[in-house]
Amino acid sequence: MRFYVPIVFGCLFLGVAAVGPTDALAHGDVTPQAVDTHTLPPLGEEMRSENPYRGLAEAVKVGVSAYTQNCARCHGIEAVSGGMSPDLREMDTECLDQKDEVKKKACFKEVDDFFMSITMKGKVRNGVEKMPSFKGTFNQEAVWAIKTYLDTRRPGN
Ligand code: HEC
Repeated sequence: MRFYVPIVFGCLFLGVAAVGPTDALAHGDVTPQAVDTHTLPPLGEEMRSENPYRGLAEAVKVGVSAYTQNCARCHGIEAVSGGMSPDLREMDTECLDQKDEVKKKACFKEVDDFFMSITMKGKVRNGVEKMPSFKGTFNQEAVWAIKTYLDTRRPGN
């Protein structure tokens, strides 16, 4: 019986932590954290295939906080990857090198679309969850805000 007591208390504690203020516990937390996007222009339900917030300062601000709470533990503090997960600053390096403006635009759009897709779906490989799905926690505003922040972290910026 004695051995069950700490387990019960442990579960109670986790239960309280899950519904209580989570900011202080967010670091290393595996639960996706909701993002407050009310300061951003609303985008509605229909998914965009291209980041409508590119360069928007408020999106960078929302994105920093959303990234830090949800992505940094795997993709690295300030998006500098420790090597365990892909370095998200490098995602559109190929596009930046593209000389043809039309192709360059198409390249950014393709990266945006891929970014949205993997962030919402997550990644399972060989039955192991490598990255959680953020669908149900994030709206598209949150995802585009993170992408806008990551644009500011490109090498050379
Ligand atoms: C539990 C760790 C973990 C968390 C948390 C996580 N990711 Fe990932 N992410 C990964 C791993 C591992 C991969 C590589 C998956 C694979 O094997 O293809 C990945 C891949 C990606 C890719 C594809 C990169 C590329 O160049 O192919 C994007 C984009 C991405 N993650 C965005 C995010 C965003 C945005 C967040 C936060 C909202 C996030 N991830 C949170 C682990 C994580």
